[in-house]
Amino acid sequence: MLVRCLYASRVATPMPGAALDQILVQSHRNNPRRGITGLLCYASGVFVQVLEGGRDEVCDLYNTIVRDDRHSQVRMLVYEEIAERRFGSWTMGQVDLKAVNPSLLLKYSKTADLDPFAITGQATMALLTELAATGSITRRAAV
Ligand SMILES: Cc1cc2nc3c(=O)[nH]c(=O)nc-3n(C[C@H](O)[C@H](O)[C@H](O)COP(=O)(O)O)c2cc1C
Repeated sequence: MLVRCLYASRVATPMPGAALDQILVQSHRNNPRRGITGLLCYASGVFVQVLEGGRDEVCDLYNTIVRDDRHSQVRMLVYEEIAERRFGSWTMGQVDLKAVNPSLLLKYSKTADLDPFAITGQATMALLTELAATGSITRRAAV
């Protein structure tokens, strides 16, 4: 059985690019063998991540991530059983919001900033789905 979950969190201390890279290195190392796919988005001190895969694998990884002291205030926004993956092309894709057309952010929020704490989980999920469809997903070359 496949599930998808979406959560948001706040970075514990300002995160340099190398620290973000480290999370992506861990993700690309671990996620393929667990059958986990998804996206990670980091902007202005906020993480948004969507995880897809088997229920046990997604729940186990989520429980690990929640205890990670690199972030706090982890809030589950969406949890759903799914018939098929939506982000299956990425072991953990990264969204560079600086490259995203502000009108796409405005479509779902009051301002052109990503604030998953201020909009519904479904709106954040719709935004990530649209980012994936519009080719806004990158992968750091180092991972
Ligand atoms: C925002 C955030 C997202 C993360 N996403 C993943 C992930 O998708 N996959 C993963 O294995 N670890 C992820 N981690 C790291 C885990 O919390 C944990 O440190 C890691 O899985 C441990 O793996 P290791 O034992 O191989 O070092 C994430 C951490 C943070 C703070």
